[in-house]
Amino acid sequence: MKKWSASRAPAGRVAYVNGRYLPHGTAGVHIEDRALQLGDGIYEVFNILAGRPLDEEGHLDRMERSLRELGMAMPMARGALKLVTREMIARNRMPNGFLYLQVTRGAVKRDHVPPPDGPRPTLIMTMRAQDMAGLAQRLEKGIAVSTQPDIRWGRRDIKTVNLLPNLMAKQAAKQAGAFEAWLVDDEGYVTEGSSTNAWIVDGAGTVITRNLTNAILPGVTRRIMMDAMAEAQMTVVERKFTVAEAKAAQEAFISSATGAAVPVVTIDGKMIGNGAPGALTRRIRDLYAARSAGKNA
Ligand code: PDD
Repeated sequence: MKKWSASRAPAGRVAYVNGRYLPHGTAGVHIEDRALQLGDGIYEVFNILAGRPLDEEGHLDRMERSLRELGMAMPMARGALKLVTREMIARNRMPNGFLYLQVTRGAVKRDHVPPPDGPRPTLIMTMRAQDMAGLAQRLEKGIAVSTQPDIRWGRRDIKTVNLLPNLMAKQAAKQAGAFEAWLVDDEGYVTEGSSTNAWIVDGAGTVITRNLTNAILPGVTRRIMMDAMAEAQMTVVERKFTVAEAKAAQEAFISSATGAAVPVVTIDGKMIGNGAPGALTRRIRDLYAARSAGKNA
């Protein structure tokens, strides 16, 4: 039988686990890995465009911060991490796709408190193709959003692999016929989407998104969009907004590495603006794309 060779694997079928490039179907971690046993790990998602990770420094900065907040170190130096991502892109033969990176505290006998000298962290990377047609359709037609209670923990600013409340909200949104869930805190304010940041535009053209606290994830796409809007002298306000305010907005959109400024055309069935993707949303997407591409040049 022919031996499996990573370089000849089908596109997108190569995974990286702790220094080794392996067939996706057989790659695995130890059963005592703390992410599996205890959810003790963090992750990042990179949009790979023309062979380069978009907003790479921003994602690496956030990864470092997530790890620091949990008392974990970077699994390797930044330069080495960048080399592994380049190697993944090449081996997967996937110049356009998404790269998922997880760092866990490592594999060690199960105990809530890890040993003081710690196990060696586990570093995993996988890639998958982008659904270009699906995204194109969402950009053209816009998406429906369903509001759901935000039942997550108090440190949503850390990008941990503990995503159950996000998954439950998204599932409920899907059942309601929506593409994304907008999570609502106990006071009736929107925090963010289940895997995206949430934005609205009011009647005066002011762009509004929730201010950064432990209540939301500091989106990397959000940051680049804000910089691009500031440069274009658009008015952006970081503050809380209610569901009622969102439903009365002129435009609304979501942002993430998997789709920057994707228009929202209904919230809980209520039409936003005239029910079509808004002009400002489009402009913000273009500004983001130009800035993001420029930074990667
Ligand atoms: N999600 N808020 C949440 C809860 C998220 O999970 C994400 C990203 C964002 C947007 O962050 P960024 O712009 O850095 O992608 C906001 C990724 C895409 C995911 O879980 O698949």
